[in-house]
Formats: sequence, structure tokens, C-alpha cells
Amino acid sequence: MITPEIHNQIATAVKLLEAGGTVAFPTETVYGLGADATNPSAIRQIYEIKQRPINHPLIVHFGDIAQLSYWAQEIPNAAWKLAKHFWPGPLTLILRRSAHVPNIVTGDQDTVGLRIPAHPVALALLNALGAEKALAAPSANRFGRISPTTATHVQQELGQQVGMILDGGACEVGLESTIISFDDETALVLRPGGIPLSALDAILDKPAILVDQKNIKIRTSGILPAHYAPTTPLTIYPAEHIWASAQELAAQGLRTIVITYSEHHHANVSNQLIQHYAMPSDPVNYGKKLYAVLRQFDNQAFDQLLIEVPPSDPSWLAITDRLKRASYTQN
Ligand code: TXA
Ligand code: MG
Repeated sequence: MITPEIHNQIATAVKLLEAGGTVAFPTETVYGLGADATNPSAIRQIYEIKQRPINHPLIVHFGDIAQLSYWAQEIPNAAWKLAKHFWPGPLTLILRRSAHVPNIVTGDQDTVGLRIPAHPVALALLNALGAEKALAAPSANRFGRISPTTATHVQQELGQQVGMILDGGACEVGLESTIISFDDETALVLRPGGIPLSALDAILDKPAILVDQKNIKIRTSGILPAHYAPTTPLTIYPAEHIWASAQELAAQGLRTIVITYSEHHHANVSNQLIQHYAMPSDPVNYGKKLYAVLRQFDNQAFDQLLIEVPPSDPSWLAITDRLKRASYTQN
């Protein structure tokens, strides 16, 4: 719901954006750090604030599907189908860009990532900006770190540097959008996310293909091996080994947090150095909480985060993907 207070803040945000400033705003996936997508110097600030390499492209968020052919061209039928069905929603389409999209948004590539977010505050902001305006926005975190799912996260991580933060509460999905590109009419999933593959396949004529991310040559920061990462080392363990590992670490004097979702295997561990946190056992609620939980424990003085391996069921794909990246180490 848009309260009169949020309504006023949106009006202020629009002025700031029109003047070339940055505004952090809620989406249903994670908070974004937005700037006027048509203003290269405004967008440059996003890269500076995030400390993100200048050639990593940004997603352009807009408010009305009628504007899709304003931002993109040569749009496959499969893309239209997905857009009509899932927008507003956690889906980003990589399409051939139109001349309206500046180079700095796309990292000089000839494609652009496009999305209509579902959060009422994001939509109100985009509508207030007006047609032929859009927000280029990455997640509102420093490059490589965990995406923010509350306004407080953004405040803690980027507070002083952002022109303004719109508070729309905790994000409903909690994981980033599903990113799809196209090979003719074949949908290629570049980043699993808020929309499960089964939901995409229900709409498409032929099943979407999950791209082996090692083979992707385009610059997608979300597919770098080390990404979405806490600063505390994070290791993934099967349920049957996680407690023994925690005890080994504790024996070395290391403070350890064990994060599980399954009811089983809750060992009777009473060691002051080991704490336990139980996540929801379904992927929707798990995904919603994951980043907030990682952030919370990362901010406490743990030496190790141990996380139970998620189920191999496809509905957990986005979670498995993020945990793999969060746990990536150089060796
Ligand atoms: O849910 C989301 O997608 C959130 C919210 C704020 O919308 N945004 C987000 O943005 O996660 P970011 O920048 O953190 O991740 C977007 C990913 C990046 O990995 C970027 O490289 C990729 O999308 N991307 C953007 N444009 C692209 C393009 N033209 N080709 C390939 N990848 C692209
Ligand atoms: Mg990001």
C-alpha cells in the first residue's frame, strides 16, 4: 500500500532522479540502487557506489509492458509470452537493445536486461518518473556481496552514499530475478531466480535451457563464481556431516554457526562455540530469509558458517546457486 508518506517520498525521489541522483528502492526480489537509465553520468555513480567494474551491465527497470519495444528490438515471441505472463515479477529478459539505452547501462554489449518489478513502491516510482524513463538498477549492495532485502540492509551497507532510500519493507521473494536470454525462440536461463524453471516451461512452447554457467562468455556479474558472498567463510555440508564438522571446528576454538532446514540430524551438541539456526524447510520461505540470515550471522563474530546442502529438487535451484557462490573459495 502506498501511504501518503511514501507518496511524498516518491515525489522527492523523482526530483532526485531527474537531477541525476541515486535512489535505493524496494523490489519484490531485493532492493535496487537506481538511477535514470537515460543519464550516463547518473549511472556512473551507481558503479562508483557499488565498486562494480564498469563493464558489468545493469538491468533496466520500467513500469509498463507497452514500453518494452521502446527499450528493446527484435523481440522473440517467446520473450513476449514470458513478459506478458510474468511481468510485473521476478523475471529479467536479455534482449537486443534499442537506441534509447546508453552504452554505460549495457557494458557496451548490444543487449539489455529488462524487467518490470512487482513491488508497489517500485511501480509507483516508475510510473511517477513517466513513460520513456526507466531506472537502471543493480542490487543495492557492494559488488560481490549479499543483496539487501530490507531498507536497513541498504542503509548499513551504502547509507551515506545513496541519495535516498525508499523503505518498502522486507522483500517478498528475497532472491534476485530469473535472468533469461534467447537463442531465436529458445529461452536460456542465465541465472536461476525468483521464477522456477517449471513455471517458465508451463508458458513456453519448448522447455527453457539452464545454461552451464562456465560456458557463458557474456559479462554477467551474477554468474561469477564468487558472488553473493558473506565475509565469514561459508561451507556447505550434507546433514549427516554438518554437526561433526562443527565439533571439529569448535575443538580448534572456532565459533561456528550451523544453519539447517531439515528436522533430522539435530545432534545433541552442547558446545558454547556452536550455535544452531533452523531455516524454513520449503524453498519459498527459505529463499525469502536466506540473505537476511547470512547477513545477520556475518555481522556476528562467527569464524565459520556451516550450511546444510539444500535438496536437489529443481524448486531449490536458485538457493543452491546462491549458496555455491557464497561458499566459493579460491582454492
Ligand atoms: O532481482 C533482480 O534482478 C535485482 C533487482 C534490483 O531487480 N537486480 C539485480 O541486479 O540483481 P544485479 O545488477 O545485481 O544483477 C543483474 C545481473 C548481473 O549479473 C548482470 O551482469 C546481468 O544481470 N545482466 C544485466 N544486463 C545484462 C546483459 N545485457 N547481458 C547479460 N547479463 C546482463
Ligand atoms: Mg547484484
